[in-house]
Amino acid sequence: MVNEPGKTPDTMDKKGITRRKFILGTILVAIAGALGSLFSLLKVLAPSKKGSGYVSTISPGDVLVYATGSKIGMEIKASSMNAGDAELVYPKGKSSNPANLVQVIKLSEQDFKAPTNVQLTDKGFVAYSAICTHLGCTVSWVKNQNSPDASYTECFCHNSIFNPSRGDLVEGGPAPIPLAQIGVRVNNDDTLSFTSDFTGPIGPQV
Ligand code: FES
Repeated sequence: MVNEPGKTPDTMDKKGITRRKFILGTILVAIAGALGSLFSLLKVLAPSKKGSGYVSTISPGDVLVYATGSKIGMEIKASSMNAGDAELVYPKGKSSNPANLVQVIKLSEQDFKAPTNVQLTDKGFVAYSAICTHLGCTVSWVKNQNSPDASYTECFCHNSIFNPSRGDLVEGGPAPIPLAQIGVRVNNDDTLSFTSDFTGPIGPQV
């Protein structure tokens, strides 16, 4: 090996190492930049799981019809429900959108407590989204025969429990937020209709 004039092998090694470090650093910065761009692109392309796909098309004035059972599609009569009863319903003519599935419940008016929006209730009727805010199962009604107002909503997929007289607050299980309330009223012809949009997000929120 021939030394360059005025430079020792030690000096040249240090310069060589510095150059390699510089090139390596440049490559790492370029890779990090490329990964950052790729990550940003994937974030845009990937659908958000949170509440994805659950967009209700319910409008004020839509009449409630049975979503299940032998009366499916028929208008619900307010007089057919007693305190402690609940039904799964759709807005008439809009059953093809699962985000429109609602649980309408009859309780005693005096049992409603905050955060229930009593302005959105009528004659003891209150309504909430029937799509569990955990992973999107349809909720069920657990009727207390001895004390109808102690009845509650449960999602049997992972046992989330909601309190219908308190704005469907979560009282157990993994559901992260209450089931959103929606306005309901009793019409002169004894049918029920919606009076508002949902008060909060519907569908899975995790
Ligand atoms: S989907 Fe309802 S508790 Fe999990």
